[in-house]
Amino acid sequence: MHPAPSTPQPPRTQPQGWRAQLLWFPDPQSHKVRHETDGLLVTGRDDDGVVRIQAMGPYRELAEHYPKLPTTHWPGLCIAPGFVDMHVHYPQLDVIASPAEGLLPWLEHYTFPHEKQFSEPAHARETADFFLDELLHNGVTTALCFATAHPESVDAFMKAAQARQLRMIAGKVLQDRHSPDGLRDTDTQLSLRQTEDLIGRWHGVDRLGYAITPRFAPTSSAEQLHGAGDIAQQFPDVWVQSHLAENLDEIRWVHELFPQARSYLDVYDRAGLLRPRAVYAHSIHLDSADRRRMAETGSVAAVSPTSNLFLGSGFFDYTASDAANLRYGLASDVGGGTSFSPFQTMHAAYTVARQSVGRPGVSLAPEHLWWQHTAGAAQALGLGGKVGNLLPGCEADFVVLNPKATPLLARRTAQADTLAEWLFAMGVLGDDRLIAHTVIQGQPVTDNRA
Ligand code: GUN
Ligand code: ZN
Repeated sequence: MHPAPSTPQPPRTQPQGWRAQLLWFPDPQSHKVRHETDGLLVTGRDDDGVVRIQAMGPYRELAEHYPKLPTTHWPGLCIAPGFVDMHVHYPQLDVIASPAEGLLPWLEHYTFPHEKQFSEPAHARETADFFLDELLHNGVTTALCFATAHPESVDAFMKAAQARQLRMIAGKVLQDRHSPDGLRDTDTQLSLRQTEDLIGRWHGVDRLGYAITPRFAPTSSAEQLHGAGDIAQQFPDVWVQSHLAENLDEIRWVHELFPQARSYLDVYDRAGLLRPRAVYAHSIHLDSADRRRMAETGSVAAVSPTSNLFLGSGFFDYTASDAANLRYGLASDVGGGTSFSPFQTMHAAYTVARQSVGRPGVSLAPEHLWWQHTAGAAQALGLGGKVGNLLPGCEADFVVLNPKATPLLARRTAQADTLAEWLFAMGVLGDDRLIAHTVIQGQPVTDNRA
């Protein structure tokens, strides 16, 4: 297979200005947030064709340095980093809101039958188009995404993301056992070659990235997991994504299938699948040795609270994860997750952290919730300084919030005495109406679903 051609980029253009309130993280390693009531963001296309933030700060200080800057003014609105979704399944668009008695029945009754349809490129492309428009409508500008076991499903997603000039990461699911006909890799070595072909075709093309994607330990043979680990070693800047320790029945099954492994995590460790840029969805039922091992290998957790609440999987342990220095960020996990909206996910994360089953509940600060879904998620993915923030040098993908989007939001945000209260009100009450515009590469794209 030949590599996909890069999209020809327009020549370097004149900088553009965006005037509104600004919200950003001055130190992307920390969740301390800054707010500017009348700010200016300056964006422009670099020689490599990518539109980046060139400057940002108070309008009164910055504007004089850009006397003829064509500027869009959004009084009353707030420019904030685009949201980063660390774990989502585009082929599960039509699985969202399907009830089940927990994870394994949900996979068998809804998810696997839906995913079988993605051998059909036209179906994959139509779904990818709808899915990406839905992400943008909700202010999500970058996602780490599962496709299905069919290589065609990756091609469809990448083409749809490329057409929208997005920074997206996706991969073909590896699953060579305990999966139905039509979704199972019938030839393990072929599935690994397909993964390598797709890396060659898509990784690093425009703003696209590839993720080696073993579904989870129960649906891969040891041969497939080790093969995935070998590819991961060969391509250190490619991502790895899978599921880990989500559900108690799943964990019992892993122990039966891999009796020699110390823990569920150890199955991936033995296969060489723990390293920086390895992202494990859920990571709920771990012990302290697992969390330390994830931290020391640079592997990270994608916290998926709406999914965990919906499927009754359990509660991510923020306290134990912080104690182990395990890095994490937020994820929708649609279609196990119930919403594309980062606000709904932040709200659910707050609720999950408050749970005090066998441990003290914590009250996550609103700026920490926002950080987990923007700059923190970008750091966890190894994309710090590229997405999830408004600092100069970051790519020009951002959202424009309307804190008065609904009567209740207008009333509640008007009464917020502090920045934290204001952010919290939006985090709990917000949905897609709060996103007035999503800007990709310096272009507002909000009307792209019309
Ligand atoms: N574990 C294995 N596959 C899946 C999936 O598609 N969704 C979730 N939530 N967990 C999984
Ligand atoms: Zn998932």
